[in-house]
Amino acid sequence: PLDAPAFIKSQIRTVPDWPLPGVQFRDITPLLQRPKTLRVLIDLFIERYVEAKLDYVAGLDARGFIIAPIVAYELNIGFIPIRKIGKLPYKTVAESYALEYGTATVEIHEDACRAGERVVIVDDLIATGGTMMAGKKLLERLGAVVVEGAAIVDLPDLGGSKLLRESGLPLYTVTEFG
Ligand code: PRP
Ligand code: HPA
Repeated sequence: PLDAPAFIKSQIRTVPDWPLPGVQFRDITPLLQRPKTLRVLIDLFIERYVEAKLDYVAGLDARGFIIAPIVAYELNIGFIPIRKIGKLPYKTVAESYALEYGTATVEIHEDACRAGERVVIVDDLIATGGTMMAGKKLLERLGAVVVEGAAIVDLPDLGGSKLLRESGLPLYTVTEFG
């Protein structure tokens, strides 16, 4: 029997000193490249959410956009993009959050979902948790029930997953790097 999370972890590539010296970048592209790893990964998300009575899978720009629509397709539900500022054409709701230097802003279409609809937010990785937290706030401003946040990788030393859980958001992560 395959230990799926260990298999997934083994297929993530660590790139030293990218994009800056001292950063160990956890690169998911090898996971996407091979049909076996992509299937094992997506199947983990499907197993977790097949009975969750979700209405949508939301994805965080840009690497959440790779995984979230595959999960939505397999669950037979829709996909909601949460985008970096200035990319969505219709009326939007926006949330800003702090980065190490400066701020970032993400947006959602105001009609992306309706009050009471059940949504999971998917991204590739949780670092400080700022992006996932902003996504949660946007969906909650539309009245959605954010059932869980999900990511392939958690970087627990950066504190984001703890912060998100303390804010009341359940989190599912496949693997972590300390
Ligand atoms: C990365 C990653 C997450 C976020 C995690 O995206 O894909 O979305 O940062 O960091 P946080 O938990 O500290 O918010 P990035 O902003 O690099 O954008 P990209 O996907 O467009 O490369
Ligand atoms: N990989 C991918 N995205 C990231 C990382 C990383 O190591 N750190 C912050 N965002």
